[in-house]
Amino acid sequence: MKRIAVLTSGGDAPGMNAAIRAVVRKGHYEGMEVYGINYGYAGLVAGDIRKLTRRDVGDKISRGGTFLYSARYPEFATEEGQLKGIEQLKKFGIEGLVVIGGDGSYMGAAALTRHGYPTVALPGTIDNDIPGTDFCIGFDTAINTVLDSVDKIRDTATSHVRTFIIEVMGRNAGDIALWTGVAGGAEQIVIPDIDFNMEEIANTIQKGRERGKKHSIIILAEGVMNGNEFAEELSKFGDYQARVTVLGHVQRGGSPTARDRVLSSVFGARAVDLLKVGRGGLCVGIVDNKIVENDIIETLNTKKHMPDVSLYKLNQEISY
Ligand code: F6P
Repeated sequence: MKRIAVLTSGGDAPGMNAAIRAVVRKGHYEGMEVYGINYGYAGLVAGDIRKLTRRDVGDKISRGGTFLYSARYPEFATEEGQLKGIEQLKKFGIEGLVVIGGDGSYMGAAALTRHGYPTVALPGTIDNDIPGTDFCIGFDTAINTVLDSVDKIRDTATSHVRTFIIEVMGRNAGDIALWTGVAGGAEQIVIPDIDFNMEEIANTIQKGRERGKKHSIIILAEGVMNGNEFAEELSKFGDYQARVTVLGHVQRGGSPTARDRVLSSVFGARAVDLLKVGRGGLCVGIVDNKIVENDIIETLNTKKHMPDVSLYKLNQEISY
């Protein structure tokens, strides 16, 4: 292939810029032309497409967000939207596409694959919930952002002998909660994959208080319920001076960590290697510390993302 394009779609994630940069730089290194598509699939359908030079990606590796912008575009789930997108790609003479994003973006990439258009998908979402990879672009930065807040909240929780419920993102996945719960020494982690018993949570807080513990941190995954509802339920078992912090979109921003920049760079370069030899219909990931590529349709049909629930048990054993 001589001319490829790249787009970012769905919720942005720190490291997307580093991945775009890798696609552009590696593409040029291999003698290809690389085009950027603005606003994800919406921009694809609208033909918002431009050529990217090596300089266009200068000074981008350290930036959060995505300089190609992103959008959620449900219309791309329709055959009509997909064919319009392919028409635009053909109009620009683009032979292969790199899509960076989460589950919706993967669905779009799979649809293009079904139409026979060579596409490679890279996992980019702070939720870390994409099948076929242990880690997604943006997850490491997001958990470090959350951790910074958990550490700060612990200071004030201790001063006032309070319980804090910290609601974190993740959609239906518990990865952010699990990793930040363990890293932040949270007394409780509440995730969608594991049932919780509010009375037991209240008892744990109470016993901690009796042993002289000054704070209780509960990391709540947004997929379970919202923080205020949780506090309301907890208050039925006693007054634990509960306060709620909803971290929200702060988790999606910021300069990517070294780990995210490296992962993004490796993923981006691998996507170009695949398209260079005409291989599409694939999704790239990291499994057991090895970079892998899998058939995207098969991955979506047969694999399911599983959070590392062993972290939950570990946390129960070391933070209570
Ligand atoms: O998928 C990333 C994510 O940040 C989720 O964690 C969250 O539920 C959702 O996107 C928020 O979406 P939006 O930015 O469209 O409100």
